[in-house]
Amino acid sequence: MPTQETLTITDNRTGRQYELPIEHGTIRGMALRQIKLDADDFGLMVYDPAFKNTASTKSYITYIDGDKGILEYRGYPIDQLAEQCEYLEVAYLILNGELPNAEQLANWQDEITNHTLIHENIKRLMDGFRYDAHPMSVLISSIAALSTFYPEAKDVHDPEVRDLQIRRLIAKAPTLAAFAYRFSMGLPYTYPDNDLTYTGNFLNMMFKMVEPKYEPDPILRRALDVLFILHADHEQNCGTNAMRSVGSSSVDPYSATAAAAAALYGPLHGGANEQVLRTLNTIGHVKNIPAYIERVKAGEFRLMGFGHRVYKNYDPRAQIIKRIADQVFTVTGHNPILDIALELERIALQDEYFISRKLYPNVDFYSGIIYQAMGLPTSMFPVMFAIPRTVGWLAQWVELLTDSDQAIARPRQIYLGHGRRDFVPMAERS
Ligand code: ACO
Repeated sequence: MPTQETLTITDNRTGRQYELPIEHGTIRGMALRQIKLDADDFGLMVYDPAFKNTASTKSYITYIDGDKGILEYRGYPIDQLAEQCEYLEVAYLILNGELPNAEQLANWQDEITNHTLIHENIKRLMDGFRYDAHPMSVLISSIAALSTFYPEAKDVHDPEVRDLQIRRLIAKAPTLAAFAYRFSMGLPYTYPDNDLTYTGNFLNMMFKMVEPKYEPDPILRRALDVLFILHADHEQNCGTNAMRSVGSSSVDPYSATAAAAAALYGPLHGGANEQVLRTLNTIGHVKNIPAYIERVKAGEFRLMGFGHRVYKNYDPRAQIIKRIADQVFTVTGHNPILDIALELERIALQDEYFISRKLYPNVDFYSGIIYQAMGLPTSMFPVMFAIPRTVGWLAQWVELLTDSDQAIARPRQIYLGHGRRDFVPMAERS
């Protein structure tokens, strides 16, 4: 049988036939516009709320096969990167497309290290928040505020200007995050230590007390590197879509990144790790798990940390996180919450409700347990997601700006509201 990379559509309203090209397993949405009832008709559109079956872009950054549980950055499997790379090495890969050689990596680390300080006025901005402000809200606001310090960032079509803002954002994200934490704890801010690695310095800014020099624990530093690598990018998720959508207006990257971070904050996205810990604490004991699962199945609430729009198999990141949890516990002591999580996973994965819907643990199911063992409050968990995801957002943002297929993101709608009607003066309204 001869095969052709086309789709033939018959419009039964008119009897007309159309042949649309198929490219990369897709048809162009705009190709449907020619399908009209008559010359006055606007043309056929696609109705796809929540983008469940719409590719919004071509991308060269991250590959996911949700059915097989595969995740690759620039072609490299996530487990190989997590095992063998430092976080900044993976950040370089995601942004530049290739792994850095030793000299490129040293230069890149140096460039990031040189941008870790923030303007003192950002500290004052943070001081203005209420004592119990959620650190993720503080982070979102302070990322947006950075645009006021770097007005030249508006020149988003200049590659050199872009590169500088990318370095600044990646370097300052941990500083802003750590300052948001210190503020929430009422602790004095700790300035970056340029002798330390990206994650070592982050631990320093979070946990240094009065010692003259903070020495990060090598196991915790390494665990954080792995966690950051796992969270660095995940193709067109909600936060990245926000980055691209907002960035498509050519706004500066600080404003777009703040929008992406805001999307990440939601409990259905990066806020889920915070909810997982609350769930595990609510369950409290393994004996309470079956009753909790029954309530999930009855539709009372969702099991946070389970399910994924793309993965219909075990999230490969959750498997890696599960492995590093044991290493972290050798330093921090066992976190009893892990026992509840493991039992919850075991019971859920045997249950018809979860099996038939292909609901497996996602990246957020175990990450919170590690963060808690490291001494972080649950409110910091989405912040811990946002720091490494900044790299993914920025790589996707550059891809957007350099893609000639892209334009300002502006979906269509199906209007189902009132037809035209005349204004009713106040006195005549019921
Ligand atoms: N607990 C119970 N049931 C669930 C869950 C869950 N966590 N997730 C999905 N389902 C059920 C739905 O009720 C639905 O059942 P139905 O067919 O009987 O109506 C079915 O599975 C399909 O669910 P959808 O909502 O259509 O799946 P979608 O792809 O839109 O949602 C999402 C994906 C939002 C991640 C969802 O699985 C969820 O809410 N999970 C909990 C929150 C979470 O962990 N988010 C983190 C995701 S990972 C990340 O963002 C980093």
